[in-house]
Amino acid sequence: MQGKDGEQLTLDLDNIPKHIAIIMDGNGRWAKKRGLPRVAGHRAGMKTVKEITRAADDIGVKALTLYAFSTENWKRPKDEVEYLMRLPQEYLLTELKELIEQNVQVRMLGNKDQLPDYTIKAVLEAQEKTKNNTGLILNFALNYGSRDEMLHAIRCIADEVKKGNLDVEGITEKAMERHLFTVGLPDPDLLIRTSGEVRLSNFMLWQLAYSELYFSEVYWPDFNRDEFYKAIYEYQHRNRRYGGV
Ligand code: FPP
Repeated sequence: MQGKDGEQLTLDLDNIPKHIAIIMDGNGRWAKKRGLPRVAGHRAGMKTVKEITRAADDIGVKALTLYAFSTENWKRPKDEVEYLMRLPQEYLLTELKELIEQNVQVRMLGNKDQLPDYTIKAVLEAQEKTKNNTGLILNFALNYGSRDEMLHAIRCIADEVKKGNLDVEGITEKAMERHLFTVGLPDPDLLIRTSGEVRLSNFMLWQLAYSELYFSEVYWPDFNRDEFYKAIYEYQHRNRRYGGV
């Protein structure tokens, strides 16, 4: 991979982030620039999902979490919402075989309740068929909102306290993490957001507390293996202090 000035950049394979989270942004603008409907951007974005999943797996990333649909995305036009809801089914129809061969484990985080049957069916089938795989964990955030996730966790904890199963002193970070959708996963080491937007948009607010943040100007459909490895290269040159010195 090449840097801005054409110099050769090499990744340190002993310092690969274990968990990478990505806000895949810029599909709509990518399409608009080409005079295409917004959904054409989402279709192109699906190809990038394939490429980045392979790129992550190739260098030994343990978990990749992709923000595919937020709790706020329901406000989009009905046709676009329907299109986005069909994508997991379409993606898994063509990719599941290869994901199984690649030893990838598919998971989902988010609120399943409002998702259409065809979306949830596709995701559950992929989860079931890959549950014993031990390679990359590919986590789709679907109907996901961090505040929603935290409220859910707080309600579960309140219920445990009410039933007398937990003391108030037992409300610790660990207790909270037991009830987040990411239970069992390490926090992301690196968050990538594409398309030049510089915000978190209600994504993994608890889990990103100490993550390195990387913002790329590239629209998601144009994001590729090289851009992804550039983000990891930059991560490897950051000094993570976790509040220490
Ligand atoms: C943000 O771009 C993107 C989304 C809301 C959807 C992301 C979905 C994909 C990349 C495809 C998902 C694929 C699978 C397999 C589930 P935007 O539409 O907000 O772009 P804009 O900011 O340029 O309008």
